[in-house]
Amino acid sequence: MESHDLVTWQKSYSVNIPLIDSQHIELVNLTNKLYQGCLKGKESTAEVFMQVVHSTVDYVKYHFSTEEKIMERINYPDFAVHKNEHNDFVREVLKAVEDFSKGTSFKPLNFVMYLKEWILAHIAYSDTLLGKYLINLKQTGELQNITLKIKQDSDRFLFE
Ligand SMILES: [Fe+2]
Repeated sequence: MESHDLVTWQKSYSVNIPLIDSQHIELVNLTNKLYQGCLKGKESTAEVFMQVVHSTVDYVKYHFSTEEKIMERINYPDFAVHKNEHNDFVREVLKAVEDFSKGTSFKPLNFVMYLKEWILAHIAYSDTLLGKYLINLKQTGELQNITLKIKQDSDRFLFE
């Protein structure tokens, strides 16, 4: 852990699906990078945001598409609700990035706090529900008929 991290990954954040956890850890790392940028004064903040904000957006989209592929594959009952949460968040983040590029009304620290709060709240509720649902499917043997490889993630298995 860096000395000035905003978020420290806790075991309690785990949704018990290694593939999803590893992506959440990467989101936490990106949030910490942006936060560290905020601690360095105005010019460095802008520089860090320039470098990190686009990879954060890309990673968020990549991560959401992983979860959405899983949800589709298992016919997840709350798929539409969960996907809407993802879409709303992406919309908010893209708006913030646009404000940042225009240099108008963009407050880096507020943005980082928003990222942190959203990610942790979403993991604690929606992703935890998804994790429980998957584990339940695994325990009842219903996952056996479903291909568990997620192609986009280098053929990693959900449960390793
Ligand atoms: Fe999610």
